[in-house]
Amino acid sequence: MELLALLGKMSLAEKCYQLQQVNSNIFMADENMPITGPEFYLQFDKRYKYEVASVYNSYGAERNIAIQNEFLEKSKNKIPLAFMLDVIHGYRTIYPINLGLASSFDRKLVRECTAMAAKEASVDGIHLTFAPMLDVSRDARWGRCMESCGEDTYLTCEMARESVLGFQGDGGKYTIGASLKHIAGYSAPMSGKDYDSSDISESSLREVYLPPYRSAVDAGVMVAMPAQNVINGVPGNGNSFILKDILRNEWGFDGVCISDYGSIENLVSHGFCENKKEATYEAMNANIDMEMVSTCYINNIEKLLNDGKITMEQVDTAVMRILRLKEKLGLFENPYGSADVEESKRILACPEHREIARRSAEESAVLLKNEGVLPFSPKIKKVAVIGPHADNKKIVGSWWCAYKQDETVTVLEGVKSLLPNAEILCEKGCTLDIEDKDYSQNDKAVALSKAADVVILCVGEDQADSGESNSKAKLTLPSVQKELIKRVSEVNKNTALVLFTGRPLVLTDVEDKVGAILNMYFPGTEGGNAVARLLFGKCSPCGKLTMSFPRNEGQCPIYYNHHRTANLRTDDNKRILYESGYIDSPNSPLYPFGYGLSYSNFEYSDFKLSDNTLTSKDSIVASVKVKNTGNLKAKEIVQLYIRDLVGSLVRPIKELKGFEKIELLPNEEKTVEFVIDENMLKFVKRDLTYGAEEGVFQVFIGKDSRCQPFDQFKFTNKSC
Ligand code: NOJ
Repeated sequence: MELLALLGKMSLAEKCYQLQQVNSNIFMADENMPITGPEFYLQFDKRYKYEVASVYNSYGAERNIAIQNEFLEKSKNKIPLAFMLDVIHGYRTIYPINLGLASSFDRKLVRECTAMAAKEASVDGIHLTFAPMLDVSRDARWGRCMESCGEDTYLTCEMARESVLGFQGDGGKYTIGASLKHIAGYSAPMSGKDYDSSDISESSLREVYLPPYRSAVDAGVMVAMPAQNVINGVPGNGNSFILKDILRNEWGFDGVCISDYGSIENLVSHGFCENKKEATYEAMNANIDMEMVSTCYINNIEKLLNDGKITMEQVDTAVMRILRLKEKLGLFENPYGSADVEESKRILACPEHREIARRSAEESAVLLKNEGVLPFSPKIKKVAVIGPHADNKKIVGSWWCAYKQDETVTVLEGVKSLLPNAEILCEKGCTLDIEDKDYSQNDKAVALSKAADVVILCVGEDQADSGESNSKAKLTLPSVQKELIKRVSEVNKNTALVLFTGRPLVLTDVEDKVGAILNMYFPGTEGGNAVARLLFGKCSPCGKLTMSFPRNEGQCPIYYNHHRTANLRTDDNKRILYESGYIDSPNSPLYPFGYGLSYSNFEYSDFKLSDNTLTSKDSIVASVKVKNTGNLKAKEIVQLYIRDLVGSLVRPIKELKGFEKIELLPNEEKTVEFVIDENMLKFVKRDLTYGAEEGVFQVFIGKDSRCQPFDQFKFTNKSC
């Protein structure tokens, strides 16, 4: 049936329920039982239970098919339910947290991982994910930086496009819809505290935070989810400036906007609205179409219509957007999508997917330090796997969907299967509890470490300590872990510290204790195999940091592309009065954005710029020769940065504008080229328009964000 005709048949109450998303537990229940739990308190009218739009959080092909069956059988309008879920970094096969995956700087890999997650979720009856999360994150105290691509806008834009294309594919079998979130400013709460409000100037909002969502819109993302905090005084879920003026009117987004969990109701708790009726008005006015779990819309839309505060056209527009989304998802033709009980058994966690998970964990790993300790020789006879993460299956991060814990490979298991003939000792030494003060547990771990040829020391955060609402004021490792590191490294110099974390940590007081540090973030299902292969040289680490690691919490938020300032201290070792710096800390981070070592060596030479003048009509090429001077095949991420020397608004000291990941055999050399054109120079100017300004621009190519300019060009609007 034509969607407009369908809309014409619907009563007002049915339309309102078509704007509602519910938890799946209200289905598959005894119909004669009263609705209980949250739905009861939210004044859910049972008569319209079979007219709601969507269910959230329902797992399994069998269950989802049964819910859809029950629903369609009892529904009057027979508009299929859309099944939505947070498929954030995998479904059953979990790949590295997004902060890790982004560190691979690998566009193709991101698409491959998201397509794999879509395939697994779709055969289990999921139609749409609340991902990708595209909040540019500059503050390591904020726990949700683990879901983000880190501190850089350009990198996040690239990953945004690849994720949307990966999830949504060609829209056919094995694909799911994607959602951009959380637009906008959610990642910059005061003091890094989740849900706290953000204050961001419009130019920063447009230049730093908004572009990744725009990139997702340009890639055809189907759904948008607002930030659940307050930005510049207005909560994200009632923010008509961001959701209507920018997202819809400027960018032309015509998909569905869905509130975050209970967030329309929260407009009242924010002190932005007096009551739920007013909250409904503000959310409708901001163009939010679907309400997640709270029930302001179904209880207040009619009242607002009667008061003349909103129009029937607004309600119809929202309903039509949802119907069109369902049409796009193919639900009117096939309400089950790709759901298939047999296929689900075959596809979920299949060897092919586990291989992608392992490869992505390897590509995401960042080698932070290596003083000749790694790689370990595979001929080693006695290995000690030590630390609270040594034999821990909880190394997947905070979103795990349908994962099965016993399918996760621990470091101990990975090392055992790689080295079947070695003697492998294992001891935790302490727990992951940040309050753990039982230092006596260290003793046995230290004794085993002393007896071994090499030590794999697995420390870090509990996976439950990063993610939503897990903000931290202290970013150091718990003291019991620090003590373990100190004592183990004293008895065995061949110690490699393997870090599991959802955020940059302060490693200042441990980094000098060990000869090697490998950051795995939370690597997912195949984490243990990836660690073993990396440590014993089956492959070389090649990831580069997507968030700076601070030296101390006081530096937060710390990011490479900060604005220029007068009197900026550039020499970390000199304390000069009236310079912008700290009296008790260097300015630089411990490990900067873009940084990561390899087992091989790469030499950069022959830096060239094809011309020193660029006009709006042409482009120039920046190039460099990169040679693998080590003796292993390895990958390198070559980075291009540009600095606009003078702007109508002060410009960052440099900005990432391009990257290429290359693989080189020993002695092999490649020329890497970056095309520079006017688009790369555009920014949000003083009058808030977007464009490039004439002037001089420095060009940098290097291994990380500390690289220095090698040449410059003049940009002019006039053609020469
Ligand atoms: C709250 C989170 O902020 C959001 O990212 C997530 O998609 C929803 N809950 C649904 O789980």
